[in-house]
Amino acid sequence: MLRFETAGESHGECLVATLTGLPAGVPVSLDAINRQLWRRQQGYGRGGRMKIEADTAEIVAGVRHSKTIGSPVAIIIRNRDWKNWTEALPVEDADGAEDKRKRVTRPRPGHADLAGMLKYNFDDARYVLERASARETAARVAVGALAKLFLAEFGIEVLSHVIQVGSAKLERAASWQELVELSRKDEVLLGCVDAEAEARMKAVVDEAYRTGDTVGGVFEVIAHNVPPGLGSHISWDTRLDGRLAQAIVSMQAVKGVEIGLAEEGSASFGSKVQDTIHYDRDERRFTRGANRAGGLEGGITNGQDIVVRGFLKPISTLRRPLESVDLTTREPALAAYERSDVAVVPAAGVIGEAMVALVLAQAMMEKFGGDSLPETERNFGTYLEQVRNY
Ligand SMILES: Cc1cc2nc3c(=O)[nH]c(=O)nc-3n(C[C@H](O)[C@H](O)[C@H](O)COP(=O)(O)O)c2cc1C
Repeated sequence: MLRFETAGESHGECLVATLTGLPAGVPVSLDAINRQLWRRQQGYGRGGRMKIEADTAEIVAGVRHSKTIGSPVAIIIRNRDWKNWTEALPVEDADGAEDKRKRVTRPRPGHADLAGMLKYNFDDARYVLERASARETAARVAVGALAKLFLAEFGIEVLSHVIQVGSAKLERAASWQELVELSRKDEVLLGCVDAEAEARMKAVVDEAYRTGDTVGGVFEVIAHNVPPGLGSHISWDTRLDGRLAQAIVSMQAVKGVEIGLAEEGSASFGSKVQDTIHYDRDERRFTRGANRAGGLEGGITNGQDIVVRGFLKPISTLRRPLESVDLTTREPALAAYERSDVAVVPAAGVIGEAMVALVLAQAMMEKFGGDSLPETERNFGTYLEQVRNY
């Protein structure tokens, strides 16, 4: 079973991630991981933190001579900002350390502050927000990059783009080629394939900057060249649609998920929603009239592109803070403000790619197994042969 875990606080020494269950022999390149980390840090609307951090991965276990060796892969990403926090967040308590804490006692509506303080019985939201922070997603992106490298060996690719920022929407479909070109860019504005729509999105972020507000949006992740037959209809927890939904909603600030054209479909008639089935005799394969289902039927991949959308709420730390309560005095107070992002939709798309890649890599290993990459490839090849000869 492929599984990953992350550890690390936003202003701690480093983030740590482990990924267990990849077969031996998967080619690993640090450049490929660092490119994904770089992509996560981009986008118009990010706060000052992204100027401090330039994330790079250090692999400390599980990879030798540029290939996985079957044992857990462990990755460290150091926090450059740590040097400014050594006294505020020391591992070992010391005399006088109490005075150097950077306490947060005015919880931000929408953040984990208040719920976490109540749950863990803290009088300071610092310990909560340090872990709730989306800084953790750098670790997800690093292991997601490994999942992408594994999937690439089978021709499967996962990319994303931004389809909405606030009320500004991309009003047309994007082609796979446009997503590929977008992912290769070395300058990222709002991660939209259409310059006109991106300019409208930027205007929304500018308005949020002007007014001390924040803004959310929608990203779309597409997995290309996925074989039919991953996931299963047989149980609630084997359905791949459910597993993808959990992976996407587990992301900080994501409050909704859509597979295929779910929202539009729920307002339409069935005849306009289901993807008709056809058979191409020359190619000896099934084709579909459209891909409104987003590549999944019955929780099983059907061979079409997987299309998953994540709906982000606006960031909860506002420069013009909302009403809250000071938990030491219990008096009304404005919520705490700490350097923060204003809009993060392109970055969320990159994190969404990582989550989708991890779920797909897990489903691939469940179906094809294998302790070495050639063994997994053999099993995959035999299955594709079966599908081709069906
Ligand atoms: C890429 C990314 C960056 C984020 N940056 C911030 C930020 O700078 N400030 C903030 O208050 N929330 C930020 N968030 C959202 C919070 O982490 C999130 O709202 C918080 O942990 C509470 O969780 P919930 O919104 O999922 O309920 C970010 C989310 C993502 C995906």
